[in-house]
Amino acid sequence: MRVKIQEESNVHGALVIEDISEKVFPQYSRWDYISVMNYVRIGGRIFVAYTGKTVLGGAFLRRLTDRIWELTMIGVYEEFRGKGVGKKLMETILKEVKGDIHLHVECKNRIAIALYEFFGFRRIRRIPHFYSTGEDAYLMILKRTPKRPKNSRDGLG
Ligand SMILES: CC(C)(COP(=O)(O)OP(=O)(O)OC[C@H]1O[C@@H](n2cnc3c(N)ncnc32)[C@H](O)[C@@H]1OP(=O)(O)O)[C@@H](O)C(=O)NCCC(=O)NCCS
Repeated sequence: MRVKIQEESNVHGALVIEDISEKVFPQYSRWDYISVMNYVRIGGRIFVAYTGKTVLGGAFLRRLTDRIWELTMIGVYEEFRGKGVGKKLMETILKEVKGDIHLHVECKNRIAIALYEFFGFRRIRRIPHFYSTGEDAYLMILKRTPKRPKNSRDGLG
């Protein structure tokens, strides 16, 4: 299967995210495309995975600051999982989005955690009852901005 990832930070991408929210994450409250677009307008980004014209899955990132992003959602439709689509989405995200990436994941979601750890995300802490379902989450972070040295004077002197 030839997988192509396309950035679609627009209404079509937002509709894909709404559909993934409904079909892949029915246990959580639904992301409707208008709410997604409100984040796109302030820098949020959407990536959609295709084979031909068929949508396989997608990802939605919110911009928290100039250098920090949240991977708010990544999902692949059930029939297309385990074929490398998630990895390809992550590769594209890491190439296109500069800065640190934060995310939350259910502690019991071993597949997603393995995917994130493969790309260098670290578990920072466990947050009890993070989800409306009562499940705990890990906060995971991929740090890509170098820490400033403590005595840095920003090049002065
Ligand atoms: C998590 C998800 C996005 C991964 O996408 P995917 O296309 O299935 O993943 P890939 O085929 O690219 O596999 C990536 C890695 O995930 C892990 N993985 C995938 N399927 C797996 C399975 N059935 N069992 C164990 N590990 C698995 C492996 O580490 C794999 O790497 P490898 O192929 O080198 O072993 C997808 O499974 C999904 O949408 N799940 C439901 C929604 C979800 O949990 N999203 C994340 C919420 S935070």
